[in-house]
Amino acid sequence: MAKEQWGSRLGVILAVAGSAIGLGNFLRFPVQAVNNGGGAFMIPYFLALILLGIPLMWIEWTIGRFGGGFGHSTAPGMFHTLWNKNRFIKYFGVIGIFGPIVIYIYYIYVESWLLGYSVFALMGKYNGCTTVESMAAFLNQYHGLENGEHFHGISTAYIFFLITFGLNIWILYRGVNKGIETVCKYALPVLFVLAAFLTVRVLTLGTPNPAIPENNIANGLGYLWNPDWSKLGESKTWLAATGQIFFTLSVGFGIILTYASYLSRKDDVALSGLTSAVTNETAEVIFGGSIVIPAAFAFFGGAATLSFAAGGPFNLGFVTMPVVLQQLPLGNLFGFAWFFLLFLAGITSSISMAQPSVAFLEDEFGITKPRASMIFAIGTFVMTQPSIFWNGKGVIGEIDFWGGTVCLVIFATIETVLFAWVFGMDKAWMELHTGSDIKIPRVFRFIIKYITPTILLLILLSWFWSDLPGILKMEKVAEDNVPYILTTRLMLLGFLVILVYLVWRAWKNKPQGGTSNAT
Ligand code: PHE
Repeated sequence: MAKEQWGSRLGVILAVAGSAIGLGNFLRFPVQAVNNGGGAFMIPYFLALILLGIPLMWIEWTIGRFGGGFGHSTAPGMFHTLWNKNRFIKYFGVIGIFGPIVIYIYYIYVESWLLGYSVFALMGKYNGCTTVESMAAFLNQYHGLENGEHFHGISTAYIFFLITFGLNIWILYRGVNKGIETVCKYALPVLFVLAAFLTVRVLTLGTPNPAIPENNIANGLGYLWNPDWSKLGESKTWLAATGQIFFTLSVGFGIILTYASYLSRKDDVALSGLTSAVTNETAEVIFGGSIVIPAAFAFFGGAATLSFAAGGPFNLGFVTMPVVLQQLPLGNLFGFAWFFLLFLAGITSSISMAQPSVAFLEDEFGITKPRASMIFAIGTFVMTQPSIFWNGKGVIGEIDFWGGTVCLVIFATIETVLFAWVFGMDKAWMELHTGSDIKIPRVFRFIIKYITPTILLLILLSWFWSDLPGILKMEKVAEDNVPYILTTRLMLLGFLVILVYLVWRAWKNKPQGGTSNAT
């Protein structure tokens, strides 16, 4: 099987940027910022970007291209290539397939709500839900949590889930170049136009209710960005900023390793990695920071906005925004622009979460693309069901926690140590600059070798020390939800065991433990 390749340099940058730009930029970021000190949040945020985000971008692009040269597109094979004297390191690479799937099995469901809401906006189906309460009831009915005038049961949501799911599988099946790259090439420009269009619309809202003149856009922006310095003293703020950087850049998951494996050795990684990060940050800070919070503030005021934000990102996206946009002329069109923008952001991210598994089956077992996509489809279809049917029981939060917090910190730590210490900083720096169009400032050599791994290890240790015991004992889980959370955990654990077994099987069949020509 000839190895797949990206069609163009712009294509791969857009694919990585597509993975990075997602719901995290438009919903998660503003909520994190407003809850963690507004403008003050940006200090830990930018520090995390420079000390963790961008270094990990470079690390992943470089390991990915390097591993791709040995015929591996996923972390088990790549880790083995970097440290082939160690028989166990490939098993740690399993996290680079497991983590993305864990995110995928709830993200895809949320993505399908966006497709549903895009259609509802155009049809005017939620018109008339002009209060936050009625819009929240609409969402609950859509989720099958209550029956009412808008929906009975979960069937509508399920149909949109099936369509979204099918669409993702179809893109994967089409392959890296004809599927992922083509979709990103069209989706990203459209996404930027829609985001710019909505940003301008929100920023020109002025004072929507003249009776309450202080509820206006300028104050809304001030509300988000005025720094609350006291929050800098709380470790929670620093962790939130770090978590946001990982999530938004899609680093620490294993995804960029896979995308970069389809490069050839002469392709640049230094500038491309940086460009994709900068593109994501532009979308996050400018567009993500200018839409939901200022709009909610102008219409509802500061106290209400804070309580919406405390209810989580879905509240602002699916409840507040449609209420606000409905009140504008051409409201249905703006509603569509909002939900479709998020849908595009979502789908270009979800396909990136799926690609590592498909690539793993193809590379390590020689399975064809159609079969690999089918196996992926069946497995993830089953694993998505708890998010759908047990929605409201804490399952989505639980899944996100394991995939989006635990796996990523462990994985990021391992890949950084492997790159800077096992592979060795001299070789790593040379590899990063092979074919490169820029020279990275030398200070990053120091950062990648010492600072990035130290911060990651500190986070990991403090987390193991202070949080893990309580989490394992489910201290914060509501009593009624315990059976659901337990089942979800067992499902994830079972899946992890299967992946470990598959890696064992794959290497058992390889002559002399697989690749032996590295280092
Ligand atoms: N970066 C994506 C976002 O901002 C989410 C994502 C997480 C994508 C993990 C891939 C892996 O929404």
